[in-house]
Amino acid sequence: MNIYGLVGYPLSHSFSKKYFTEKFENENINDSKYELFEIRDIADFTKIIAQNPNLRGLNVTIPYKESIIKYLDTVHDSAKKIKAVNVIKISNEGKLIGYNSDYFGFQTSLLNFLPSDYKGIKALILGSGGAAKAVKSVLEDLSISYLVVSRKSDPKTIIYEEVNEKIINEYQLIINTTPLGMYPNIKDSPYIPYYAFSDKHYFFDLVYNPLETLFMLKGKARGAKTKNGLEMLHLQAEKAWEIWNS
Ligand SMILES: NC(=O)c1ccc[n+]([C@@H]2O[C@H](COP(=O)([O-])OP(=O)(O)OC[C@H]3O[C@@H](n4cnc5c(N)ncnc54)[C@H](OP(=O)(O)O)[C@@H]3O)[C@@H](O)[C@H]2O)c1
Repeated sequence: MNIYGLVGYPLSHSFSKKYFTEKFENENINDSKYELFEIRDIADFTKIIAQNPNLRGLNVTIPYKESIIKYLDTVHDSAKKIKAVNVIKISNEGKLIGYNSDYFGFQTSLLNFLPSDYKGIKALILGSGGAAKAVKSVLEDLSISYLVVSRKSDPKTIIYEEVNEKIINEYQLIINTTPLGMYPNIKDSPYIPYYAFSDKHYFFDLVYNPLETLFMLKGKARGAKTKNGLEMLHLQAEKAWEIWNS
């Protein structure tokens, strides 16, 4: 039996196990199983590898997309520039190779969301973790300029208290890459002044559980167009499957 799985903490929100279990059933893939590896400390990653000799591939999620890199033998070009890994392929020789499929998932899903004349739109990225790194790389490649909002003060970012009406007028695409609002904490939302948004705005939430987050509901209430992370999840999962089987 080939084992695939997801490494992260916490994992109660994740749809990946359901997605792959249904895929294996629907496509008659009888030699494969998908498991959750919920670890509180990234140092336990080596135990997962040692205890599961039939592991063929892993997805990596919150909060380990960056800290996993030091445990890998090689990082593929898709993850090198981004400096975040969300897919690991385990070769027949047991080598661990890191990839990034969030880039592909986010780019495709974003282009399905934005109007065709999106040129000139600017983006506000909320959060600066592993997924934000793939988001930044996509925006750079699409020539969409962006500003990152973080809890930490840094010369390259602004803090939430600095998001004011002027900034909201200038940045029409708002991308939530924080876990705020994710199951089970569905009453949370990023700390931004929602009253200042309008029907000019696009709210993209990478969170997909719940399907409509409080961030999206608050944007919708101001007339903004909204999208959740479900399509991205499916796109990056299919890309992961392609990587594991290439
Ligand atoms: N739909 C998809 O396919 C997909 C793919 C990737 C990720 N995601 C979702 O995206 C989210 C982030 O994942 P990730 O892997 O990037 O996680 P991560 O590496 O832990 O980064 C999350 C970032 O969010 C910010 N953050 C964390 N806790 C916060 C809080 N309490 N208040 C405000 N900001 C907070 C932090 O940025 P600062 O320190 O700068 O504030 C942190 O770096 C998760 O909900 C994940 O499920 C979805």
